[in-house]
Amino acid sequence: MSVTLSSPLPPSATTFYPLDLYHFYTDFLGSIQQRYREHGNVFRWYALSKFTVLLGAEANQWALVTQQKSLSAAKAWQQLIGQLFQGGLMLRDGADHRQQRRLLMPAFRQEALQYYLTSSEALIGQHIQQWPARCPNIYTRVKELTLEIAVQSFFGISHPKELQVYNRLITDVVAGSIAFNRLPVVGRVYQRAVQARRDLVKLLKPLVGERRRHPTQDMMGQLCQSVDEEGRQLSDDEIVDQLIFIMMAAHDTTASTLSSIFYELAMHPEWQLRVRDEARRALPWPVAQRPDQLPLTLMVIRETLRRHTPLKVLPRVTLEDLEFQGFALPKGSHISVFPSFTHYMDEYWTRPQDFDPLRFSEERAEHKKHPFCYAPFGGGMHSCLGQFFAEKFLSVILGKITLKCSWRVPDIDRVRFQQIPIQVPRSSLPVHLYSS
Ligand code: HEM
Repeated sequence: MSVTLSSPLPPSATTFYPLDLYHFYTDFLGSIQQRYREHGNVFRWYALSKFTVLLGAEANQWALVTQQKSLSAAKAWQQLIGQLFQGGLMLRDGADHRQQRRLLMPAFRQEALQYYLTSSEALIGQHIQQWPARCPNIYTRVKELTLEIAVQSFFGISHPKELQVYNRLITDVVAGSIAFNRLPVVGRVYQRAVQARRDLVKLLKPLVGERRRHPTQDMMGQLCQSVDEEGRQLSDDEIVDQLIFIMMAAHDTTASTLSSIFYELAMHPEWQLRVRDEARRALPWPVAQRPDQLPLTLMVIRETLRRHTPLKVLPRVTLEDLEFQGFALPKGSHISVFPSFTHYMDEYWTRPQDFDPLRFSEERAEHKKHPFCYAPFGGGMHSCLGQFFAEKFLSVILGKITLKCSWRVPDIDRVRFQQIPIQVPRSSLPVHLYSS
């Protein structure tokens, strides 16, 4: 609702607590929870920058759908990742965003996804085969795997030497996107990322020209052929910008989810068995054509995304004066919604602290208690374009892993996760693998 600013501003939660910053880094959701108890579900907070926190399923729906046209995703994300992912879909608003999203859609259609899945299945097997029995950090391994799948499916690159070059550049760009220190010092993570982006653009541009002349089925090939109802096509620059952004959006989030799955299923080995049984029943593989035959596996993935939501915060900037639940949000306010917080609210979830994949079964369907109580992929016009891609890929990878091995995490009680800007194991996630 657009308002004249007579309503009060949300309460300020900026009192300084001893060890505040430490708490913020080590237990981000815990520090939100603490302020929720003190101030309710709407409050202004100064943590690195000033923003207003809106908590709960109603807030998610309000920001992501009801008021989506009065809120800018572009302005909010620009500050965080604008330099490295300029022109990416999430960094666009309004008609421009709609047009680009329409042109990207064909690359996410069912048949396109099927092609990416089928062409990556062998690669997944090769990677798992090479994992050592005592893996010091499974997060590094799943990052290598998801990156290689993405380079192959999105750019159509499979030659080992070329893969190596792309992997290094993309790793540098992605590392920059989650670096806190952005000082312009040569050799630092962020500056390396800026240079890597430049090099990546130089490599990708001629490849786009080649794909236009010789069409392929990889994502770049699909984007080269995409035409909207008015006959408009993506320019070469737009294709390169979108692909670099999609690479980051896909790789970081799936690697985060896979390592969280390793952790959860090490805590709950009975679920390793259930997933393996289901994968065995779906034999003979390849199952790329039918990952829908793995419903329990999908429930495990959904429950992991509920408990370990990779993107904890979805930021927006108000484009006009707005009001939410009686509080004024003046034009230009930075606001954030937290699906990750809603994923633990007692109103929606039975014993939310428990790992319980069956809460997503048809009989219980806890995620349907409110259209926005479960939103790891966001919602509204910026909702994740890769949701089905991610769910299908994770199902196939998890199925393949459990067919090959079981695992445990030594000293699991000592494993900690960094929660922002994206959830990843804080130091390492060692895993011991056993042939099954
Ligand atoms: C478990 C994996 C994933 C999670 C949890 C996830 C989560 C999200 C979320 C929450 C957003 C919305 C951000 C916002 O509203 O500000 C988003 C956007 C997006 N995601 Fe994903 N994502 C995942 C995987 C992927 C994959 C695999 C791809 C591509 C293949 C992808 C492509 C995108 C794109 C293109 C957008 C921007 C959409 C737009 O602005 O219109 N994501 N993702």
